[in-house]
Amino acid sequence: MSKVDLSVQVGPLKFRNPIMLASGTVGYGNEIAEFTDLNKIGGIVTKSLSLKPRKGNPPQRIVETPSGMLNAIGLANVGVEQFLKEKIPFLKKYDVPLICNIAASTVEEYVECTRILTQEDSITAFEINVSCPNVKEGGLQFGNDVAAVAKITEKVKSVSTKPIIIKLSPNVSYISGFAKAVKESGGDAVSAINTLVGTSFNIFTKKPKIHNVNGGLSGPAIKPVALAKVLEIRKEVDIPIIGIGGIMDWKDVIEFMIVGASAIQLGTLNFINPSAAGQILTELENYCNNFGITKLSDVTGSYII
Ligand SMILES: Cc1cc2nc3c(=O)[nH]c(=O)nc-3n(C[C@H](O)[C@H](O)[C@H](O)COP(=O)(O)O)c2cc1C
Repeated sequence: MSKVDLSVQVGPLKFRNPIMLASGTVGYGNEIAEFTDLNKIGGIVTKSLSLKPRKGNPPQRIVETPSGMLNAIGLANVGVEQFLKEKIPFLKKYDVPLICNIAASTVEEYVECTRILTQEDSITAFEINVSCPNVKEGGLQFGNDVAAVAKITEKVKSVSTKPIIIKLSPNVSYISGFAKAVKESGGDAVSAINTLVGTSFNIFTKKPKIHNVNGGLSGPAIKPVALAKVLEIRKEVDIPIIGIGGIMDWKDVIEFMIVGASAIQLGTLNFINPSAAGQILTELENYCNNFGITKLSDVTGSYII
């Protein structure tokens, strides 16, 4: 029997291991459950929910790029009411911490979504998406404004007793300023990072490949950026960090933990290998055994500069 302790603490949240599935890449859990045993992973983050259902952007919404992908889904989702009625019953069958990601166009909408969802016992925590680059209202407008991020954190916190994680945008020059605002406004943790703004054009038609023109870049291409953002936050602000961005294997998980992440989320990888989470867990355990690490969380913030 392995003696490795894979459990991690993210502020008030305790997870059995650091592997979570990122918002927008596993739907409401149903799309991945046949490939990955949800009872084994650390946590699942649902697709961004808005108060009312959203159709999202017209196609083309996804395009492949070297070392990653661009997406401009536009936060298509079933809305809070349908989520509670139709999606939660499936997720309730699993023993996995459920983190609901919320997106909105106004501060009031963030608050209303949180207020409604907080009454549902099976929701463990909220991840507030202030950083989606693919929507006209909300999204980057909020993610680029420290005062707005502080206000959203404070208001959302005031209507819920559940932990609040703020998902930050990398499309800013000084991400730790945003993490500081989250901490000072009562936020429990930050997720870093959301996608980077990118585009791609067809050289023959001279038209954008994505209907929205811009999309959010994810995948291995963004990993160095994400690592730098996590490290910056870790150095400047004492707040738990969930690392996201281009994680493809167990080595990437360790790298994110070294620069300061307490836990991580897998995103684009779920589209390439939907069974990856389970495999990475086994490999993390092997890594710990090979290097005499008894508690994986000791790796967090262990960088040497
Ligand atoms: C197709 C797609 C849809 C996404 N939808 C959301 C979303 O609804 N809400 C959100 O906060 N992030 C969303 N993201 C961002 C991911 O959660 C993650 O932050 C990003 O993809 C970086 O991680 P990765 O490089 O491992 O994919 C989406 C990403 C992709 C690829």
